[in-house]
Amino acid sequence: MLHIKNLHAGYNGLEILKGINLKVGKKEIVALVGPNGAGKSTVIKSIFNLAKITGGYIFFNNKNILGLKTHELLKEGVCYLNQGRTIFGNLTVRENLELGARLIKNKEEVKKRISAIYKKFQILKKRENDFAYTLSGGQQQVLGLGRALITKPKILLLDEPSLGLSPKLQKELFLMIKKIKKDGISILIVEQNAKKAIELADRTYLLEDGKIALEGSGGFILKHKKIKEVYLGGRY
Ligand SMILES: Nc1ncnc2c1ncn2[C@@H]1O[C@H](COP(=O)(O)OP(=O)(O)OP(=O)(O)O)[C@@H](O)[C@H]1O
Ligand SMILES: [Mg+2]
Repeated sequence: MLHIKNLHAGYNGLEILKGINLKVGKKEIVALVGPNGAGKSTVIKSIFNLAKITGGYIFFNNKNILGLKTHELLKEGVCYLNQGRTIFGNLTVRENLELGARLIKNKEEVKKRISAIYKKFQILKKRENDFAYTLSGGQQQVLGLGRALITKPKILLLDEPSLGLSPKLQKELFLMIKKIKKDGISILIVEQNAKKAIELADRTYLLEDGKIALEGSGGFILKHKKIKEVYLGGRY
């Protein structure tokens, strides 16, 4: 579905990604883990045309999506939730969702989609007329997810969605991500919490210094010496 081939990318003449190959299949959750500054966010930003690409290809459903504008990417079904909080605190929960649906012209369709989001995440319905800043951190992340899902994406790019959440809320968020997968959406997730992400994902890539250092699925990758060194050996 998503196929990144020999990608070189960075910022202002500075090469961060040095030839990345990565695939995300249909209905697959793929995790991207690695130390701070490895280039994880840059991979996601490259897909969403927010970094400077200096070489390679990005295909989505066999279509070259390199250089597409945000609204074109959304039309293709590619949706990005960036690192940190992305909601508008001084708008209500409902207004935030409506903003996510701004590219949909049919108002009835927007209403329908918001109802569907409320069904999935009942806390949003309960708080629909409250300003978003009054939500707890976890609830704000849920709102961010809801706003992303309203476009009915085919693939969701998540950059550290669990950032700043308590362990309990992280657990809830990961359960939600599993639910989203059941709806047939592919997910590429960047996570600091590597162990949790590896357990959640169908497949994991370890990124080190702009290169893929390791690729594999759950059990294999959790037991791998490299992963143990980085995440379980106290370097974190
Ligand atoms: N807009 C930018 N301009 C210049 N350099 C940047 C920019 N964004 C990121 N970088 C640099 O690119 C490198 C990789 O950054 P990136 O954000 O992709 O890392 P990361 O793996 O997501 O790290 P973290 O775990 O801290 O989020 C870092 O050295 C960073 O300073
Ligand atoms: Mg990052």
